Amino acid sequence: MVNEINYQSTQQLSLFLDQDHQDLIKPSPVLKWAGGKTQLLPEIKKQYPQQLQQGKIKNYIEPFFGGGAVFFDIYSNFKIKKAYLFDKNTELIILYKVIQNDVNDLVEQLSILESQYLSLETEKRKELYYQVRNDYNTFDKQTDANNYTQEWIKRAAYTIFLNKTCFNGLYRVNSKGYFNVPIGRYKNPKILNENNLIAVSQSFQIAEIKHTDFAEVLSYADESTFIYYDPPYRPISETANFNAYSSLEFNDDEQRKLRDVFVKASKQGALQMLSNSDPTNYVDDPFFDELYQDFNISRILASRMINSKGSKRGKIREILVTNY
Ligand SMILES: C[S@@+](CC[C@H](N)C(=O)[O-])C[C@H]1O[C@@H](n2cnc3c(N)ncnc32)[C@H](O)[C@@H]1O
Repeated sequence: MVNEINYQSTQQLSLFLDQDHQDLIKPSPVLKWAGGKTQLLPEIKKQYPQQLQQGKIKNYIEPFFGGGAVFFDIYSNFKIKKAYLFDKNTELIILYKVIQNDVNDLVEQLSILESQYLSLETEKRKELYYQVRNDYNTFDKQTDANNYTQEWIKRAAYTIFLNKTCFNGLYRVNSKGYFNVPIGRYKNPKILNENNLIAVSQSFQIAEIKHTDFAEVLSYADESTFIYYDPPYRPISETANFNAYSSLEFNDDEQRKLRDVFVKASKQGALQMLSNSDPTNYVDDPFFDELYQDFNISRILASRMINSKGSKRGKIREILVTNY
């Protein structure tokens, strides 16, 4: 059971007290997401603008929201008033809008799915998984994710169910937009984390969640705004495909358009941070150094697969650009 508590002096009107553990529950990502920033957070936090700590930032914008690790951290630690959270992935936005508007119904549906799945033997689990996956792929890919309907609750429950039970817990679709990840090998997957869903729903009460392109930040960027951009990684070669979030394309032209948005939002007075993979890990490629030469560029260390085959693990550099 979770109880809401009222914090008068902090913005965390919405951190929760878990009655069993008496802990404050801070929201954290609901999905495992390619490029998720949870592991890099300690390094990213070090470079937040001082104005956040000083309470001068009122609005936060995250236009490549994904799993939202940075938003949840900022929401839990600073007094922001309003958040604008964007992504071009339809299923993500549908899920987040359901969490924002109908979290209790979502919890109920997931709870049923979880008990059903966990009560089954391996073969029957497989049947259920592929049945859900087929059903999921019948949902209209052209749905307008900005036009909320309660009919999405089941769809959102399926997004979480598939993310928690699929192979490697990753979201991947084929060229037609069909989710095509096979069943995973987890013995006892935690499909429902009720406390976190409720904490996330509370944090979304200050948010405008939108299925839109990153360029929309320009409608909101001003001196009281902090923007964090985490675009899809730039592939290291023409053939490498690291951008497996969806069939969304993010080529060098998009990277250049993003830089132009960064420049404009800077002129509008926003404080900004942008991360990306560092191509110089692999080849002598100054792409981002040139693109962002007028801003501050630093490198932070990330622990992740150093090549796409995953045969080597090690620390690799990630680029962080700021305009402050
Ligand atoms: C690297 S991920 C963000 C990961 C996120 N920071 C996290 O911690 O999970 C990039 C995201 O950008 C989204 N995306 C791709 N193209 C986009 C565009 N043109 N505008 C907005 N979002 C886009 C993808 O759907 C994906 O969720």
